[in-house]
Amino acid sequence: MAESMQGLKRSHRCAELSRQQLGEQVTVMGWVQKTRNTGGLIFVDLRDRSGLLQVTFSSEKVSEEVFHKAYRLRSEFVVAVTGTVVEREGGVNPNLKTGEIEVIADSLRILSEAETPPFPIEEHSKTKEELRLKYRYLDLRRPDLQANLMLRSKVCMLTRAFLTEEGFLEIETPMLTKSTPEGARDYLVPSRVHPGSFYALPQSPQLFKQLLMCSGYDRYFQIARCFRDEDLRADRQPEFTQIDMELSFVDVDDVIDVNERLLAKIMKEAIGVEVQLPIPRMAWQEAMDRFGSDKPDLRYGMELHDITEIVRNCEFTVFRSAIEAGGSVRGINAKGQGGMPRKKIDALVEFAKGYGAKGLAYVAVNEDGTYKSSFAKFMKQEEMDALVAAMDGQAGDLLLFAADQNKVVYDVLGALRVELAEQMGLPDPDEFCFVWITEFPLLEWNEEQGRYTAMHHPFTMPMEEDLPYLQSEPGRVRAKAYDIVLNGTELGGGSVRIHQNDIQEKMFEALGFSKEAAYEQFGFLLNAFKYGVPPHAGLAYGLDRMIMLMAKQDSIRDVIAFPKVKDASCLMSEAPNVVDDKQLAELDIAIINKEES
Ligand code: AMO
Ligand code: AMP
Repeated sequence: MAESMQGLKRSHRCAELSRQQLGEQVTVMGWVQKTRNTGGLIFVDLRDRSGLLQVTFSSEKVSEEVFHKAYRLRSEFVVAVTGTVVEREGGVNPNLKTGEIEVIADSLRILSEAETPPFPIEEHSKTKEELRLKYRYLDLRRPDLQANLMLRSKVCMLTRAFLTEEGFLEIETPMLTKSTPEGARDYLVPSRVHPGSFYALPQSPQLFKQLLMCSGYDRYFQIARCFRDEDLRADRQPEFTQIDMELSFVDVDDVIDVNERLLAKIMKEAIGVEVQLPIPRMAWQEAMDRFGSDKPDLRYGMELHDITEIVRNCEFTVFRSAIEAGGSVRGINAKGQGGMPRKKIDALVEFAKGYGAKGLAYVAVNEDGTYKSSFAKFMKQEEMDALVAAMDGQAGDLLLFAADQNKVVYDVLGALRVELAEQMGLPDPDEFCFVWITEFPLLEWNEEQGRYTAMHHPFTMPMEEDLPYLQSEPGRVRAKAYDIVLNGTELGGGSVRIHQNDIQEKMFEALGFSKEAAYEQFGFLLNAFKYGVPPHAGLAYGLDRMIMLMAKQDSIRDVIAFPKVKDASCLMSEAPNVVDDKQLAELDIAIINKEES
């Protein structure tokens, strides 16, 4: 029978006890991790979110009734124990925060019994994630997940404190709203009152935070839930959380300044990492040329080399035809990997093909200075020597080349660089390398739609010096946009917004939007701007990604209490699910079975 809390009060969490409480009577409550029985003594490892504590029941010190109750304890029973803190009898356990002490029990209440859980509740679980997610409430008892969620709470607290101190107001924006401009697919919610009409869940608070600037709140923030119906990856969830902010009367440097100080505070106070300010900035083009990525991991080198000029006139048609088609040839040097077996190189070629490469040419520099190469037979000796020299190739190195349109070359080598670095163990897990990526292209050409689309969103301000090209050469216009990147992951991004009508109209024109279409989608924002709008700019972090990196986790799921899996379902609650016909009828919704119809 489960007992109640009547007359009982917890005095400490388990791992809050130390030598400081020696001799004190305490009451602790938690879950039984495990029990050991040595005849006259029963040892219980008691667990709560603070950690583990050893509680000892001695047949000599407690009544027969209490001892018998302790004898019945099983893993995951919930209990309350009152007892005295003493030095640990059997020697110190250095692996435990409370390893120097134990509690000698006087009394015990069994608050709840427990069935045997489907997997052990332990740190670094080896249980399959699928099973753990089905029983997420048990998984969440594990110390690693508890540490992650405690870190997350702390980061939110620090963020609120810092931004409030800096004059930001925390304001909520609606969840039931109209489509926002972040460019993913919307989650729709049908309206009962307006049959046939739908709300969209926000992909971000973007339009509303800009409206708040129009309304004079001048510094806004929100820890905001966002919804995007896109393909999931290890760092993507259909619903996720942003630390979102917007500021009035500012330019790029102002946004960067306050955010660098925010990041430094969070990193220092939550995980004790010192961030050197200012955080370096790199223009987008430089990031692409050097790292093949707009989210470069700067913990290691292995930079891209452009060898287009060296091979422009060579006989290797793969190289020459890529250059003739307006592309380039670039390579990376995997230092010391020259001995890589053919099978592993073939696997790299397949990997590259996954990123759009037609192939991957390679040169291994042998110890005697000769080359083992997939294309040397098409090259003159001087050309090979020049190419290897340009790549800083030394004996024992493996040089890998992609020849294609620039975009493909960047994608392939950028991904290959990360993959190889991982294989070679180059990234230092204890290092946190921040970088701002700036001067993004304003627009990118969308082959499918046959038009330009906004790289960030349609309210992003072009760089002043590029404004003259907005109509004539939209592709070369750079934006006042910035991303903050940590160890190869995009943590957050933002931009200065367009607050001038004429520029906004040109922007819509460049995007191939008619004025009517623009007003239909974003009319409430554009109208608001007619009544006086301050220059403004903002930024949003992916909170989940931030915590994932701070906690050194590989998956965003490990820092979200109740995450979804790859097909966007929740294995525990079994959402999404079918609903009653009655509910559908109320919403005027009929389900069409595609196959039948
Ligand atoms: P953006 O679309 O770049 O900008 O999003 C900002 C940050 O949110 C995180 N993020 C995600 N995290 C988890 N799962 C997802 N599906 C997901 N999508 C995005 C990323 C990203 O850097 N309104 C603008 C910001 C602004 O301009 O102020 C915006 O939403 O870490
Ligand atoms: P091939 O003559 O097609 O057998 O190609 C010779 C070498 O060039 C092989 O190692 C291919 O993987 C490589 N290769 C083919 N296409 C490309 C490309 N676009 N970029 C780089 N290497 C390529």
